[in-house]
Parts: sequence; C-alpha cells; structure tokens
Amino acid sequence: MSALSITDLRKSYGKGSNQVVALDGVSFEVNEGEFTVILGPSGSGKSTLLNVLGGMDRADSGSAVVFENDITQYSSRKLVEYRRKDIGFVFQFYNLMPNLTALENVAIAKCAGGMSEEAALKLVGLTRRGRNFPSQLSGGEQQRVAIARAVVKKPRLLLCDEPTGALDSKTGQRIVMLLQRFKVRYQTTIIVVTHNAKLAQVADRVIRLSDGKIVENSVNENPLRAGEIEW
Ligand SMILES: Nc1ncnc2c1ncn2[C@@H]1O[C@H](COP(=O)(O)OP(=O)(O)OP(=O)(O)O)[C@@H](O)[C@H]1O
Ligand SMILES: [Mg+2]
Repeated sequence: MSALSITDLRKSYGKGSNQVVALDGVSFEVNEGEFTVILGPSGSGKSTLLNVLGGMDRADSGSAVVFENDITQYSSRKLVEYRRKDIGFVFQFYNLMPNLTALENVAIAKCAGGMSEEAALKLVGLTRRGRNFPSQLSGGEQQRVAIARAVVKKPRLLLCDEPTGALDSKTGQRIVMLLQRFKVRYQTTIIVVTHNAKLAQVADRVIRLSDGKIVENSVNENPLRAGEIEW
C-alpha cells in the first residue's frame, strides 16, 4: 500500500531577489513499511521536505497524500493532531528537555494506542537510565532517548533528520540498527535524511535531492542490515 504520494511539491523562502527555492517540484511515492533514505548536498531541500511531510512547515503548492489524506489541505488544527498522533520525529541534536529525566522526556510524547514510556526505553536498551537527566547521558544515549520519545506513540510515519549526524560511526550504526529493528517490529514507514551515503545500503528506497529536485529515486532490492555495512 502507498504510504506517501507526493506530487509536484514546491516551496520557496523569502521574496524577490532574496527568494530561495527549497523544493522545486518534488514528486515520489513511498510504500507502507519502507525504509527510505534521502541523500543530497547541504541546501538541497532535505529538511524542508521532511518538515512539510511532518506537518511542521507548509508547501506553497503541490499535494502530499500521507496514508490517504492530503496533508497540504489540512487546517492548522488538523496539522497539530497529525503531528501528535501520526508522526514521530528524530532530530540531529536530540532536542530533549534538559530539566526532565529520560523517562519524563519520553512520557510527554505518549499517545492513546501507543506504548508505555518504560516499554519505549526498553526498546532502545536504556531501561536502567530512565531516571537520568539528558546532561547525565552520552550523545548516543540521548539520541536513543529521542528515538524512544519518537516511537512511544507507535507513529505510522517516523521522520529522522540527520539522526546520526552528531555521533561517532559506531554509535551511529547502533542508532540505525534500532530504526531498522523498529521498522521490522511495527511495520513503521521510516524516512531518514542523511549526509552519509553509506546509509543507502540499508535503505529499501533511496531518494537523492539536488537544488530542490529529485535526481534519483531507486529501490534497493537487497538492503543490508545496519550491522553488516562498513562504517
Ligand atoms: N526558514 C528558512 N528561511 C529561509 N530560507 C530557508 C529556510 N529554511 C531553509 N531555507 C533555505 O532553503 C534551502 C533548503 O534548505 P534545507 O534546510 O531544506 O536544506 P538541507 O538539504 O536540509 O541542507 P543541510 O544538509 O545543510 O541540512 C536552503 O537554501 C536554505 O537556506
Ligand atoms: Mg537539513
């Protein structure tokens, strides 16, 4: 089944001579349960695309059908509900609340139909660090808390913007293994934006952006497991 059907998405920032075209007619499809990796140079529109798909930013034109609903037609209120219920988001720099423990950081994202914060921390292997504050955790551990927070609601769509960008390769590999495991267990549709071209090897689908346009959209018939690739 099609999870995402994106047609001629356009988005510019600024006006007149200051105008920057971030998305210049982007169209693609993603099937439910696919692990998609989006590659492309800095400024090519990757984050803009992810933010539109996650309901955090609006496109100027085009349509973005996510699980059969065109989110570009959503009211602001509907977008809030969409972000809260359907979307898990993982950022490069974790974005944890410094004054909340790991467990509390996960708990604030809980939703009906999801799992408990304890179960989410267990999934990322951090059962014993639940009472720690972010400052008491390593970067990799903080990112695992951020993943627990993103998946505690069992989102249908998990969006990750440079989730391994701030981590050393070994820790980054662990993060990708977690994402893969989550995909297998819950059939979650996952989109990962990255500079790391090696991640293409673990993807079901690889999309490459350049200057706001798709220059490659390929299906990987034999994706590797994150543990199998050379980092
Ligand atoms: N809020 C904004 N206001 C103005 N311009 C923006 C804004 N967000 C992004 N842009 C511009 O849109 C273009 C695409 O940016 P985007 O952040 O999507 O790129 P990216 O592929 O994620 O880059 P990176 O790999 O560096 O994160 C860039 O030229 C950027 O400067
Ligand atoms: Mg970006």
